[in-house]
Amino acid sequence: MAVLMDGKALAAKITDKIRADVVSFGLRPGLAVILVGEDPASAVYVRMKEKACGKLGFFSSGFRLSADVSEDELSALILRLNDDPDIHGILLQLPIPGHLDEKKMLSLISPDKDVDGFHPVNVGRLMVGDECFVPCTPRGILALLDEYGVDLKGKRAVVVGRSNIVGKPVAMLLLQRHATVTICHSRTRNLPDVCREADVLIAAVGRPYFVDEGFVKPGATVVDVGVNRVDDEETAIRLFGKESPKTMKVREKGYTLCGDVNFDAVENMAELLTPVPGGVGPLTIAMLMQNTFDSAKAFAEK
Ligand code: GUN
Repeated sequence: MAVLMDGKALAAKITDKIRADVVSFGLRPGLAVILVGEDPASAVYVRMKEKACGKLGFFSSGFRLSADVSEDELSALILRLNDDPDIHGILLQLPIPGHLDEKKMLSLISPDKDVDGFHPVNVGRLMVGDECFVPCTPRGILALLDEYGVDLKGKRAVVVGRSNIVGKPVAMLLLQRHATVTICHSRTRNLPDVCREADVLIAAVGRPYFVDEGFVKPGATVVDVGVNRVDDEETAIRLFGKESPKTMKVREKGYTLCGDVNFDAVENMAELLTPVPGGVGPLTIAMLMQNTFDSAKAFAEK
């Protein structure tokens, strides 16, 4: 039976340290969060980020823009926040509506306030191993592996998913720690065979219960980055079974959340495994707070 990696407990430990540091450094870190449109999942994430700021005594400034906002309006807001001395981090919640050029908007954020680490300057710095803002979810994954003493040197790490938010940056971080890293995606041939070579398997595909026992080497460490919404009963029955608590939840509440990893199928094979919820999710928020704190500290030292 796998040992569960408790992301919630580690996130609490990290935020306690930030809270103490805020007091000892006499800082008031400020985070601006921009949400464009009405995507319900994004709205939930943004609320969680703002709530986390509140709990730590950070200044937080939320901007809700309508789905048809122009590129000029969004650009003007970002440029204004770049010059705002009370703001140390600017976060543009993704995805944004299709008429807006995501890369262009992200590259308007000052690299010094880019607490998501999505600006090309920070992406480049991560690639060459310079100091930079590291994207929050990948930074959280590494913190969790460290907390549970997972030694990455010389190990085979397989990342399933090649997004700019998780897959590519986490692969870079694993490589920096001297793992041998393979990035897989939807066109990878013999995907389960490749995954079964992994000592450390990172699942970031965005497909519910995609990774099952056929993907996992006995004794592997498995990190589940997925947060998938399942809202129809037929899919729920296929994935979880007719009478499972998750299927009941779909019947009662209209939806349930689940990871990319079929937890029940792999828990007897993995040595270490993250739950969903309570695994990687809480660490994403904790690392956003850490990046914002680090930014405020860097501004204070300038
Ligand atoms: N959408 C999904 N994850 C993230 C994230 O970490 N940051 C931002 N800005 N948008 C996201």
